[in-house]
Amino acid sequence: MYGDLDRPPLRADALNRALEPDGYRVEVLDIAPSTNAVVADRARQGEAHGLVVVAEQQTAGRGRLDRTWVSPARAGLTFSVLLRPSNPLGWVPLLGGLGVAQALRQQCEVEAVLKWPNDVLIDGHKVAGLLAEAVDGAVVLGIGLNVTTKAQELPVPEATSLALAGATSTDRDTVLRAVLRGIADALGDDSRSAYRELCSTLGREVRVELPGGESRTGTAEAIDDNGRLVIDGAPVAAGDVIHLR
Ligand code: BTN
Repeated sequence: MYGDLDRPPLRADALNRALEPDGYRVEVLDIAPSTNAVVADRARQGEAHGLVVVAEQQTAGRGRLDRTWVSPARAGLTFSVLLRPSNPLGWVPLLGGLGVAQALRQQCEVEAVLKWPNDVLIDGHKVAGLLAEAVDGAVVLGIGLNVTTKAQELPVPEATSLALAGATSTDRDTVLRAVLRGIADALGDDSRSAYRELCSTLGREVRVELPGGESRTGTAEAIDDNGRLVIDGAPVAAGDVIHLR
């Protein structure tokens, strides 16, 4: 039995039956420090493409740029996918974000867009974040998605959840299936033009806070062949983007 009727546990058997044709093997853990760490270990042991580890609760969820990812148990989806991709590596994190955004648009009927490199926003609020880590030639793609998180449970006011954004579906099994299929589709096709179309950063005035502590302000003009954001002619490989206008 589970205590919170609004937040039922994921059903690993049903997920595996549904996702096996898409090349995924899903493991559901009750609790883990970080699914990215779990999948990174498995990548080092030679695990094949397509492993998905989901944690109903993370105790040390990691974000980009040394941040954390915090979510109450079963309020969201926190999972990592092991990829051994053929795409140029620079684009994998971006296309992963595209797959999430497209799946949410289709399955949940929300106006999800991207903020470079791969934050997923609804009405300017972050609903999902992705952390891609390279491990021995593989990529561990970690996704945190707020599903039924209530306003008072959000870690920062700039965040949102599918429920708060009026999504038509907040069933986590359904959403996880859609998102994993979205990621496979986005990585399988040449989806770079689709990424550019959904990327709300392009054409905007932005400030990018760079990992070293400096920042860059200007117009986000393009995304180059390596997935870098070009600001006033100069590429940026990593950083936190703030949309100014
Ligand atoms: C970000 O927005 O900074 C990225 C957040 C990524 C969070 C997910 S939750 C599942 C996976 N495991 C982790 O420790 N991090 C990623």
